[in-house]
Amino acid sequence: MRCLYTGIPVYQYVGVLVQCPRALHINETAYWSARLLLWHLAVKWLSKYTSKMARLNSLLRRTGLRKIVVALTKGGVGKTTTAVNLSAGLAASGFHTLLIDTDTQGQISTALGVQPEKGLADVLSDEISVEEAVTSVRQNLWLLAGGVSLAGAKRMIARKDFGGEQVLSQQLEPLEGKFDFVVIDTAPGWDSLSINVLFYGQELLTPVSLEVLTLQGLLDFSNRISEVQEYHAGLKQKYVLPTFMDRRVKKSNEILEQLKNYFEPNQICHPIRYSVKISEAPGYGQSIYEYAPRSNGALDYKQLIRKVVAT
Ligand SMILES: Nc1ncnc2c1ncn2[C@@H]1O[C@H](COP(=O)(O)OP(=O)(O)OP(=O)(O)O)[C@@H](O)[C@H]1O
Ligand SMILES: [Mg+2]
Repeated sequence: MRCLYTGIPVYQYVGVLVQCPRALHINETAYWSARLLLWHLAVKWLSKYTSKMARLNSLLRRTGLRKIVVALTKGGVGKTTTAVNLSAGLAASGFHTLLIDTDTQGQISTALGVQPEKGLADVLSDEISVEEAVTSVRQNLWLLAGGVSLAGAKRMIARKDFGGEQVLSQQLEPLEGKFDFVVIDTAPGWDSLSINVLFYGQELLTPVSLEVLTLQGLLDFSNRISEVQEYHAGLKQKYVLPTFMDRRVKKSNEILEQLKNYFEPNQICHPIRYSVKISEAPGYGQSIYEYAPRSNGALDYKQLIRKVVAT
């Protein structure tokens, strides 16, 4: 039997792997076409195998859902950027990841270039279940969108006399066992919804832009977190992520040093450098890995993903 593509007998393929064309009595073109075909099949099989392994790993790891809250009361420190690139990176590593936008600005949909019809507000107002409200946005990545409609949901939570801080936890209960990670982006400030998020979350990731004012905001925020922890001991300040790092600026280095006075070395993550590519990516509806995979921003966020997966 002869190969359809190269015309050489199929049994000679074994020889193609180890011998030269003259020893096999076939011409050079057929020999190299056969070798190319074998390489092509090997690469195809390998990529299928690795994606299967990633899925299998993800299944094995799915012993418990990790809930990461990206929060700081101060605005513009890189919360949304971090939530998007952290979840996109986890998804690309094979983890089933749900990104939840709890901000009325609803910027995550724009940053990922999607326009979901349903979102978190519909779940909080009990109109649909959380499974119905999530939108698939990339391979392994789902989004529960935010937006202006969350303002009504916040009022509804604030009106509750009893158990108002548990509304989100109750509505998100069906997610247990369905994802490996839930990453939640929060709005700046402090309101009924942000308290709900903190009562739901387990691991707090705080982006800190390397400026004096952010450090002050961080200390106020830490005090508020301690108050929440009195009622929800499961919430841990796990990661502090320095952002907008510019090594040429003395102030950046000084503030990074000061952070070490307040947090354990294992809590402080490798800084995210200031990067024009990071600020451009949302305009194209892409994560930093899609927009500029070789940029400093992509490399820095990959370091964060490695830390989150490992600890
Ligand atoms: N490392 C970085 N380098 C350059 N620009 C960045 C970086 N990180 C974030 N940005 C840009 O800074 C701006 C603020 O970032 P982002 O929206 O993530 O902050 P935020 O904390 O979510 O803000 P808010 O509190 O308003 O929700 C955005 O335009 C974003 O693209
Ligand atoms: Mg934001």
